[in-house]
Amino acid sequence: MARQKITVVGAGNVGATAAFIAANRRLGEIVLLDIVKGLPDGKALDMAEASPIQLSQQEVRGTTDWAATAGSGVVIITSGVPRKPGMSRDDLLATNAGIVRDVSRKVAELSPDAAIIVVSNPLDVMVYVTAKVTGFPKNHVMGMAGALDSARFCSFLGAELGVSVEDIQCVLLGGHGDDMVPLPRFTTVSGIPIAQLLGKERIDAMIDRTRKGGIEIVNLLGYSAYYAPAAGAVKMAEAILRDTKRLICCCAWCDRQYGVGGCFVGVPAVLGKEGVERIIELDLDGSEKSQFDASLGRVKELVIRVDQLLGN
Ligand code: LAC
Repeated sequence: MARQKITVVGAGNVGATAAFIAANRRLGEIVLLDIVKGLPDGKALDMAEASPIQLSQQEVRGTTDWAATAGSGVVIITSGVPRKPGMSRDDLLATNAGIVRDVSRKVAELSPDAAIIVVSNPLDVMVYVTAKVTGFPKNHVMGMAGALDSARFCSFLGAELGVSVEDIQCVLLGGHGDDMVPLPRFTTVSGIPIAQLLGKERIDAMIDRTRKGGIEIVNLLGYSAYYAPAAGAVKMAEAILRDTKRLICCCAWCDRQYGVGGCFVGVPAVLGKEGVERIIELDLDGSEKSQFDASLGRVKELVIRVDQLLGN
């Protein structure tokens, strides 16, 4: 499958930043699409003007014309409204479900072989909407959340421990909500379990901050984070485009895995040219399992609500 063309739908903060990072990493031909006239063109022109400094030959094409996206190998969907202070991700459900449904239809029509990475919130249920509308193979539809949430956990741990974030590996399960499940038992610094380096109280504080990482930024900025979310989406896109088989926590279709019984939810997965190529099942202890089940239950409730909203 040719995966050289990458479309980013939505030229807002997350989408434009993702296009810029992807260009700097020379991921392929990049199309930045938005419905707002001038916005994608303006952002793409600004990026082109940065290219002599960034030494990136990569051109980003900004457009409002869906035809330009045809034949994409990877599509990143960032469309929808972001959170404002006082809002949970779930408050975005009704607005973003319709937007993501319409966008997904266009992707299915124009890029039928694409792997789709959804970034819109509430994340897990938006991935479900995209999968349902496109009818794509389940391994071609996934969501960016674990890449962001585990990066947050790593960054907090790096600062706390005074070690390079390069050496920290985190694993995180569940939905992209306050009940996400960071797994300290599987989190290491160069192979050393963090429990060897940090007391339980501090680990718990880092976990709590990770769970609330999105709202911490919303409260500071007045709108959602975008550098780390965009970097997470491009990390996934790169693994697919370059077929690197990286193991990245992301929202993927699980059936028997973790006893999920058919739902998109956050798990560690191997990403390559086939999209989600494999899900890694960990042997969870009782507390980890019950936290995961609670988070999964919440995602499943939202799936029922979105089906009602969209009249499925
Ligand atoms: C966050 C939003 C993007 O976690 O969900 O920052």
